[in-house]
Amino acid sequence: MLTLGIESSCDETGVSIVEDGWRVRSSVVASQNDLHAEYRGVVPELAGRAHVRSILPVLRTALREADATLNDVGLVAVGHRPGLIGSLLVGLTAAKAIAWSMGLPIVGVDHVHAHLYSPLLDLTEHERPAYPAIGLVVSGGHTSIYRLESPVVLTRLGATIDDAIGEAYDKAATLLDLPFPGGPNLDRLAAEPGANDRAHDLPISRLSPTSLDFSFSGLKTATMLAVRGDPQAGSDPRTADRLTHEERRDIAASFQRAAVRAVLIKLERAFDATPCRSLLVGGGVSANTRLRAELLRLGQDRGIDVRLPPMRYCIDNAAMIAGLGHAMYASGRGDDLTLEPTPTTAC
Ligand code: KG4
Ligand code: ZN
Repeated sequence: MLTLGIESSCDETGVSIVEDGWRVRSSVVASQNDLHAEYRGVVPELAGRAHVRSILPVLRTALREADATLNDVGLVAVGHRPGLIGSLLVGLTAAKAIAWSMGLPIVGVDHVHAHLYSPLLDLTEHERPAYPAIGLVVSGGHTSIYRLESPVVLTRLGATIDDAIGEAYDKAATLLDLPFPGGPNLDRLAAEPGANDRAHDLPISRLSPTSLDFSFSGLKTATMLAVRGDPQAGSDPRTADRLTHEERRDIAASFQRAAVRAVLIKLERAFDATPCRSLLVGGGVSANTRLRAELLRLGQDRGIDVRLPPMRYCIDNAAMIAGLGHAMYASGRGDDLTLEPTPTTAC
């Protein structure tokens, strides 16, 4: 069966056709990066309007690339939470219109949950990871750890109490005067040869000894102080343009070391507390080079099968929505045309 997936929660318009919940026939994403670059962040009103312009061209391209028409589709899956309301509404309205006019079932998918489906895409049944699994979502809006009994059934074990890791990356990148989107640019700077990730002793949040929650606000503030200089020293605060390239690179590397270490500490605790066979990772920050390398190393040390999404499925995409939507529908879940957009996750 073909599932048509639609994703429009933030600043990426995605449409995908996925066969039987795993074989990605097409996954088309229209990014709005250029639109938001001058503001160094997503402007909700601009995002919603851009989705309106993109949704039908992206839909047509996804169908063409999948060599399919709407008549071949058996299920419509749509990311209906969490996200920007104006953005969610565009994808949801398109999904409802298609479901209603074609007489198709519709299933609403939680975007955060769907990120944990991204490492499963393109895998046959016997290539899939074993459950129970630990799930790690590291994105622009969320930083959470879950226990998964199956791709569909999950329980949250911990989440950030303030900023998401991607938000901290983007803020640190802005402080370092790096272009939008900040995360990948900071990652690149930190990975330059010669970067000293011990140049600044930035805080690694641990919270209470057994906590599986995260906190990134202290790291953000400490990075700001590393850029601006010591306020006690009496000199005027610096901006990134007063720093040498090497100084900026070393702050980026020190930030990255602390951010990644904070994630690894909580995962080690999760592995200690909850027996699991696999680790599934998703969300935009799962594209981070250092995080990927350290997660694979941790998996080797612990004998846990670590599944990272391929780069094309790290960023927001509709294939993960279609894949999870199919699995949810197969397990008896479904919605109707009263489905509403919701700003917060239920996971
Ligand atoms: O999952 P995503 O595309 O959107 C949300 O659901 O939030 O994640 C976007 C986040 C942004 O904060 C972006 O800067 C970050 O993912 N990101 C990265 C990298 N690539 C994307 N952060 C660090 N290193 C990267 N390579
Ligand atoms: Zn996302």
